[in-house]
Amino acid sequence: MISNGYRQARWLEPTVFELSRSGAVGVDFPELDPELEKSLKNAFKEIPEDLKRNDLGLPELSELEVVRHFTRLSQMNYGVNSGMYPLGSCTMKYNPAISEELVDDERITYIHPLQPLETIQGCLEIMWRLEQILKEITGMARFSFQPAAGAHGEFLGCLIIRAYHRDKGMLHKNVMIVPDSAHGTNPASAAMAGYEVRVVKSDKDGCVDIEMLEKIVDENVAGIMLTNPNTLGVFEKNIDKIVDIIHGVDGLLYYDGANLNALLGKVRPADMGFDIVHLNLHKTFSTPHGGGGPGSGPVGVVEKLVDYLPPPLVEYDEKEDIFYLDYNRPKSVGKIKMFYGNFSVLVKAYVYLLRIGGEGLVKVAETSVLASNYLLHKIRKLKGITLPYAPESPRKHEFVVSLSKLYKETGISAKDVAKRLLDYGYHAPTIYFPTIVEEAFMIEPTESESKKEIDNFYNVLSKIIEEAYEDPEKIKTAPHNTSVGRVDEFRASHPKTMIPSWRIYKTRERV
Ligand SMILES: Cc1ncc(COP(=O)(O)O)c(C=O)c1O
Repeated sequence: MISNGYRQARWLEPTVFELSRSGAVGVDFPELDPELEKSLKNAFKEIPEDLKRNDLGLPELSELEVVRHFTRLSQMNYGVNSGMYPLGSCTMKYNPAISEELVDDERITYIHPLQPLETIQGCLEIMWRLEQILKEITGMARFSFQPAAGAHGEFLGCLIIRAYHRDKGMLHKNVMIVPDSAHGTNPASAAMAGYEVRVVKSDKDGCVDIEMLEKIVDENVAGIMLTNPNTLGVFEKNIDKIVDIIHGVDGLLYYDGANLNALLGKVRPADMGFDIVHLNLHKTFSTPHGGGGPGSGPVGVVEKLVDYLPPPLVEYDEKEDIFYLDYNRPKSVGKIKMFYGNFSVLVKAYVYLLRIGGEGLVKVAETSVLASNYLLHKIRKLKGITLPYAPESPRKHEFVVSLSKLYKETGISAKDVAKRLLDYGYHAPTIYFPTIVEEAFMIEPTESESKKEIDNFYNVLSKIIEEAYEDPEKIKTAPHNTSVGRVDEFRASHPKTMIPSWRIYKTRERV
């Protein structure tokens, strides 16, 4: 019995092993040097019989078959290089080709973290210089590059908050405040670090409800985790009040830097009053993420928290003109990743920052906000779409509209519209997040997209909304043009009903 999802999968690509044809050759090896052959044969004799293999089971294909196979697979994928990727809160901006080219340099790819320091001075200098730029952008005193992602940075940030309070004898501090609009990783990171999570609601403007915050903050509060602009794309206008309330009980403010794109060169987290920040280099500073590469979530702290950062920190000895690693950090929370983090991501972010420069960063922020408000201005006029929370105030780099009116009038949900967008060659926006918006549709065009592309996206969305009223079935059964149709999400993710992969291969239908 095949699930509906897999029945609708119209074109599942076979693996290279299934394509294998006995006798097909894709590579010509040169003749073996007779001396080398002799010594290999002798070495082979030393291997016990039961460990010898006569067949490696490698697929046999011609070069053209291999090229076609991988080209087909690459065409089944969708990335920023294929088209607009308006995945809100994920900042899917263009990843410049030059960063990829430079990071491929063998002086970067062939180094080992345990090499003597004098042989990796250039790499240490890259990290040191990148840290100086991030300090300038955020106003923080020092950074650790160890975290491999935003959520990893949040976890480190929470450990630092805990270490700070313990160090100061404030052992009772066991509560972390998180707004109801927060990204799910915020409460998860706080809970993993041992905190009880206390939720503060959003007010009618989508900002932290200050009255409620005042009520729920007490001596046990260790801190608050905030992203500003928040996940609705709204700037927390009462940030100074929030800072006073939290600092008033010796709490610390954690800045979730996933939304820094809108503020680059405009406002600095430290100047707003935050004590800790993580940045998503893989979002704001344009290094590939998702399927495109590992992430990096450096954590920056104000002066009083520097001692708690993980070892090592990169230092520069001006007198000797050398860079070195400082492991001597007695108050540190300890390492949370091996060595210095994902170094290649740091290089890509550094290249991006050097190329774009200070004035360029300001332009990035302004263009991303302009793009988002331009698109919002058009989209909010569409039938069935509303803008919840502070409808009069402009958004920052992203916005969240609600499709609940459309759902009530046509039965078409945010998920259905997202699936139909795939038919028109677009990646879907983020849906059902933040959870405080019904049928949420969260769009972040980023500064990378031209007006023409944004208009095109709008035209497609507007066509889909028309279809929702005229031919809803077409949308409910979408996508129709993709390599895999709509899958049964429950069966696909539930371990008891998941179809083992060997059965997918056996039941493949090709068109
Ligand atoms: C607001 C916000 N915070 C935190 C994160 C977590 O970042 P990462 O995916 O790098 O772990 C995300 C990711 O989408 C986010 O949007």
